[in-house]
Order: sequence, then C-alpha cells, then structure tokens
Amino acid sequence: MSKIKTFYQCQACGYASPKWLGKCPDCDAWNTIVEEKSFSDTYRAGHAVHALPQPQPLNAVSGGREKRMPTGIQELDRALGGGVVQGSVILVGGDPGIGKSTLLLQTASHLSERAGKVLYVSGEESPEQIKLRAERLSINSDKIILLSETNLEGIMGAAAGVSPGAVVIDSIQTLYTEELASAPGSVGQVRECAARLVSFAKRSGIALFIIGHVTKEGAIAGPRVLEHIVDTVLYFEGDRGHSFRILRTVKNRFGSTNEIGVFGMTDSGLIDIENPSELFLSEKPQDVAGSTVVACIEGTRPLLIDLQALVSPTTFGMPRRTCMGIDFNRVNLLVAVMEKISGMHLGGMDIFLNVVGGIKISEPAVDLGIIASIASSFRETPVDSRTVVFGEVGLAGEIRAVNQVDARIKEAAKIGFRRAIIPKTNADKLKNNAGFETIGVNSVDDFLEVVLI
Ligand code: TYD
Ligand code: MG
Repeated sequence: MSKIKTFYQCQACGYASPKWLGKCPDCDAWNTIVEEKSFSDTYRAGHAVHALPQPQPLNAVSGGREKRMPTGIQELDRALGGGVVQGSVILVGGDPGIGKSTLLLQTASHLSERAGKVLYVSGEESPEQIKLRAERLSINSDKIILLSETNLEGIMGAAAGVSPGAVVIDSIQTLYTEELASAPGSVGQVRECAARLVSFAKRSGIALFIIGHVTKEGAIAGPRVLEHIVDTVLYFEGDRGHSFRILRTVKNRFGSTNEIGVFGMTDSGLIDIENPSELFLSEKPQDVAGSTVVACIEGTRPLLIDLQALVSPTTFGMPRRTCMGIDFNRVNLLVAVMEKISGMHLGGMDIFLNVVGGIKISEPAVDLGIIASIASSFRETPVDSRTVVFGEVGLAGEIRAVNQVDARIKEAAKIGFRRAIIPKTNADKLKNNAGFETIGVNSVDDFLEVVLI
C-alpha cells in the first residue's frame, strides 16, 4: 500500500506546509494549522469516477419516507423529532460529566430491544467500567456489544463483523485514524474520523450516535467542527449542582430544531420529566419579594420558571450585577430602562438574578419577569404568586408582543395559575379564556403598577 500523503493547512487562509507550524507564516494566525489528507489521495481512494454522474429532475426522484425507530426514551424521541432515522448520524455534545455516556448507554439498552445488536464503542472507559455503570442503571443484555478501542480502522472492522442496528461512539475525541499522524482529539483527526464514520453509517444504514465533548478553550476540536457533517446535533446541558438536564436540538435534518427534552439525573440514571413546569415551581416560595413566575417557550414547549432577584445596597463602590441562567447584557439593558423610564435608583444596588433549577433561558419574553423580580426585590413588595408574566420590553419602556401566547397561557392554567400579565397587543387578540384573567399592559410603568401587590 502506498503511504498516504498528508500536509498541513492553515484553516484561516489556506496556506499549505509540509510540516506543522504554530503560527501561519502567511496570515500570522496562531494554532490554525491542521493536518489534512492530500486531496488527490482522497479522490483516488474513495471517489473514483467510473461513469459520468447523472443529474435527474426533481419529480423523477422517488421520495420514500425515512424509516424511524422510536428509542423508547420519550424525551430523547421528542428531541429527535419522533425517533432515530436509520442511517442517520446524531452528535451528542456536552460538558464532561453531564451524563452523555449515561444517556447513550440507556439509549443503547432501549434500542437493543428493537433494533437488534447495539455496538457501544468506548475510547475512554474499559468494558469493566461500562459494566459498573450498567449495573447502576440495571442494564444487562447480550445485545449490547462493548468495544474498548480508539483505532478507527479497528472499530470499522469490528462493526462490520457485529452487524449492529446502531453504533455509539464514546467519544469522537479519543479516536484516531492511522492515515493522519496528528494526535487524537486534534481538529484533523476529529474531522477525518467523523467523516469516515458518517460515510460508513450512510452506506450501511446503521444509526450512529457520536459523543463529543465541548472543550473548555472554545470548542476548537469539539463538536462544532462536526456540526455540518452530521444529520442531527443535540446538546446536553445542565448545571452539575442540579439534577435537571436539558437535551437541546440545535440541528435536525429529520425534524424541527429548537426542540428540547427534559431529564432528571437520579441515582439510577436519567428519567424523563414530562411536566417540567411543575417541578421547577415545586419549591417556589409563596408571596416573597423578588420571585416571579415567567411563562417562556423553549423550542415548541411552554415552560414555567421561577425567576428570582435579590437587590441590596452596594457595600463597595462598584455595584455588582450577577446573572445565572439569563443573558447578562439583557439584564443590564433592562436595569437601564428601569432607571431611566421608571426612575428607580438602582445605581447603588447590587443585583443578583437566578433562574431556579439551573436552566438557561434566552427568550426575550422573560424581560417582564426580570423587571418584575428586580422591582419586587427593590421595593420589598411581593408579586402575587398565582400570577404569571411574559412580554418583551423595548428601550423606550414599551412592551412588545410575543408569540405562542395561547400555549403559554394553557400551560399556566394547567399548573393552576389564574392570572397573567401580558403585552397589550397580545391581550387584545386573545380569545376568551374562561376562568383565566389576562391583563394587557403597554408600558413598564403600567406593568409595575399591576404586578406588585
Ligand atoms: P457520565 O454519563 O459519565 O457523563 P459524561 O459521559 O457526560 O462525561 O455521567 C456523569 C455523572 O452522572 C457522574 O458524575 C455521576 C452521575 N450519575 C448519576 O448521578 N446517576 C447515575 O445513575 C449515573 C450512571 C451517573
Ligand atoms: Mg462519558
């Protein structure tokens, strides 16, 4: 076999060099040079053109529906858009220790009951370690085949021998191919290994799950470099101090994006949480200043969250602003609006904001919740604990309409709320909600008048 030629290329400007360099001599960028296979080799190895490619008219393509297989884990199915599609490649990204291996071992167990054998390849743990985890999860099956291996060629060979219905790779950062000399986890290796695995999955119709760690340094060789070559990208998030985990769909060629699955981490693995709002609000303090319930939408799913604020006089010269679970800049903007429009003197105050449950909310509809919590804590007046709020706030203190109002109100009514304070434009369009009071507000001042009791 002829030796495969590789070269090193700058990812920023395309400069090519036979050796690795820390700094690109052409564009002066650091750490952008990555090992690549020479193109003519790739071309000859995999894509030899025997016949002219045949373009075809759209209506001549037979459009069979994709074959979906429910995993049996309800929240995962929801995130995937109704199950795994055969031959699809799913990237599961997340911080180390968040529960990716746990989720995929549980998935492997469920899939092995429906799809035949599941090959679980771990480059990080020995079969004994995986067995320990499996015991904790009460999983035991002869259809889950374990392989502790990091060599890509070895893994593909083994996979062909086992002929599984699904393969789990834990994790892509530990794999290497002999064709590149760079270390496992480098951009070149991660990309090349993933590309080979993807083409393997497409050829064989095997569903492939790839775990990718999000690296601290801003995801250099992390899941980001793979997002465009896989079919579905899921991010597993959560706060390690809390038991909630959210599986967020960032990309999905076979379903809607922005879908979420909610899990709870327990002593014996992950469990589905069908009604997250109830859980997030289960410990909400009643009639205490600084706590507001906001109805937000995550993906297509309404969620009620408890947004808490603590406003106290600054002990040092610089007031502190600390936000957990919401955007810091958004909070600063709203504090400025409250100072300028409503004349609240927050300049000498420390402000701490927290979304209870360790979840992150990025929707502008939480604006009213932020304002209500800060004002409530500042004035030491509670917000009625049977009221939910939502709405976007503009720089002039106006309150702007948000979407999916019906879904938000339905969720609030389901949990037992009786009143919502919402943007006036939304309230005017709303149909009659029996037994549910909606108050439309136009400006921050109007809002503050009705929200504090
Ligand atoms: P793991 O799946 O190993 O994380 P990752 O693969 O993303 O690095 O799980 C990590 C954490 O989950 C670990 O700190 C222990 C905890 N855990 C539980 O709380 N309950 C369980 O049943 C299991 C298996 C793990
Ligand atoms: Mg792991």
